[in-house]
Amino acid sequence: MPRNPLREACGRRQRHMPDSAPRPARRVRTLDLQKAKREGRRWAMLTSYDQYTAALFEQSGVDALLVGDSASNNVYGHSTTLPVTVDELIPLARAVATSASRALVVADLPFGSYEVSAEQAVTTAIRFMKEAGVHAVKLEGGARMADRVKAVVDAGIPVMAHVGFTPQSEHALGGYKVQGRGDAAQQLLDDARAVTEAGAFAVVLEMVPAEIAAEVTRELPIPTVGIGAGAGCDAQVLVWQDMAGLRTGPVPRFVKRYADLNQVLGDAVRAYVDDVASGAFPESERDFS
Ligand code: KIV
Repeated sequence: MPRNPLREACGRRQRHMPDSAPRPARRVRTLDLQKAKREGRRWAMLTSYDQYTAALFEQSGVDALLVGDSASNNVYGHSTTLPVTVDELIPLARAVATSASRALVVADLPFGSYEVSAEQAVTTAIRFMKEAGVHAVKLEGGARMADRVKAVVDAGIPVMAHVGFTPQSEHALGGYKVQGRGDAAQQLLDDARAVTEAGAFAVVLEMVPAEIAAEVTRELPIPTVGIGAGAGCDAQVLVWQDMAGLRTGPVPRFVKRYADLNQVLGDAVRAYVDDVASGAFPESERDFS
């Protein structure tokens, strides 16, 4: 079993440990993730939108699950993250939070649910905490959203910030583009500092040059979670359908495919369809008498 230092820090018994008496797994907390940064231990986050992936991913060592607004693309079939609503995300977040017994579950505040005012941000974040039972929320934007981050944190809700490329602003940013290059590096650092000062417990850095992300990571006391931001971040996040190869076609350069789930699932379904057509399924041993 691969060593998971964060799980050890959380008191979870590892399979190779001599005393194998079962011990309940403790919930990963924001403080555990911050401690991991101080101790130089990296951790992994993956998106999840349903019960099976939530349970499987945390059992496989993922410490934080993100019910991302990427559900807009990966669950609801839209081409951007913009259309998904709070009412569409809450049931997915509830399924993940209900099924995850160890991982920290973070839900994205979708586009339109926090931009209007700090009060709107708090109201939406409270809905995710009460109706979905998540442990933290994530919202996009740096200095311009610092007052929202502070208001939500002041309401007792942990916030993961998200700077660099922010998909909800893709039209304002002129498409999927690397952020923080050249003179924009200072703005990126200022954004990361602003959300840190506002009380965020961690910050996602998306599509940022690796050396800038490493500098931001060194500067900040809170963990950075990279996606297309190089190995210098404290943690990494990927959309699960991308990393498991369920999504077909071109994927962003920062995606690494760890499996070809599209092929595996397609093969299984094709075999089932063939068996039904030939009468090979169901076999007599599956019959009730
Ligand atoms: O919604 C999402 O999946 C995200 C990650 C890409 C960080 O925000």
